[in-house]
Amino acid sequence: MISVIELQNLINRAIAEKGIPETPKELYEPIRYILSLGGKRLRPVLTLMACDLFNGSILKALNSAVGLEVFHNFTLMHDDIMDKAPLRRGKPTVHTKWNEAIAILSGDVMLVEAYKLMMEVDDNILRQVLNVFNQTAVGVCEGQQLDMNFEQMDSATVAEYLEMIRLKTAVLVGGGMKIGALIGGAEEKYANLLYQFGENLGIAFQLQDDILDVYGDPEKFGKQVGGDILSNKKTFLLINALELAQGIDKEELVYWINAENPETEAKIKEVTAIYNRLGIRQLAETEINRHAEIALRSLEEITANEDKKQGLRSFAEELLIREN
Ligand code: IPE
Ligand code: IPE
Ligand code: MG
Ligand code: MG
Ligand code: MG
Repeated sequence: MISVIELQNLINRAIAEKGIPETPKELYEPIRYILSLGGKRLRPVLTLMACDLFNGSILKALNSAVGLEVFHNFTLMHDDIMDKAPLRRGKPTVHTKWNEAIAILSGDVMLVEAYKLMMEVDDNILRQVLNVFNQTAVGVCEGQQLDMNFEQMDSATVAEYLEMIRLKTAVLVGGGMKIGALIGGAEEKYANLLYQFGENLGIAFQLQDDILDVYGDPEKFGKQVGGDILSNKKTFLLINALELAQGIDKEELVYWINAENPETEAKIKEVTAIYNRLGIRQLAETEINRHAEIALRSLEEITANEDKKQGLRSFAEELLIREN
């Protein structure tokens, strides 16, 4: 059986061999830059694993898998503008290294490039594949808008938060796996179960991202630690803290959320201390496990090679204890 590392290598090679035009260099340089910064490549890996689960040829899914990664990198380029993020994968974000106009337009052309790659499937499944991809892409935009709307709100419910991350993050993981399954020749029923696996894994994955945003090691995380706290992101952590905090903790939390131009280090430190006092990280970890279990139950319902299913389980587990 092909290992995750071999799949990552295959994807990285395909990305490196992709001919990206030279000019206009302001348009294409940032694309080369963001794609060369690495990243876990988890979405294309899952697409290839999904195809392989149904004994499809991995090479047949490679273009779509790369398309998914290009799409993901496009969303990161624009997300970093929206989130005013200085760092990505340990390096300056595109809009800080160049400027926002460049990050917008380079991102746009990446979206088109993603579609071109996604079209490289057999004609008999093309419409189905593009349908899944379209639903996914719209979902991501809807989720991103909700994420930004929530910044301005006093709070949000856990249910609203889960729906927001389902859209901004999880539909892409689920959609990518469904596309892999379709290319692999899976029956609709199994392709949908794998979608469910991916979507719940994606929700758990985003919860872990929210934990790392507060508790990550700056050396390993590759992004600004505390960014979500600074922008009042209504993450699972903040929503639960707002619900559970009482007395001075509650006053302090509300103070930091409403503070105009706060001292950034102090805000991150104090809000984190409140999270710690309330045991918020453990709550988030419990929620991760809940979604991981739902994901695993969907996988159980799929009749396929047990070793390959085990490969998916192990990769999912690794993703949920990651440090970046
Ligand atoms: C970052 O995705 C955006 C989220 C959905 C949390 P990844 O954590 O997969 O980022 P890379 O591609 O590995 O850098
Ligand atoms: C990721 O949300 C969602 C998308 C990029 C669509 P985040 O804003 O939490 O992702 P990071 O933490 O910047 O990677
Ligand atoms: Mg964001
Ligand atoms: Mg972000
Ligand atoms: Mg994040």
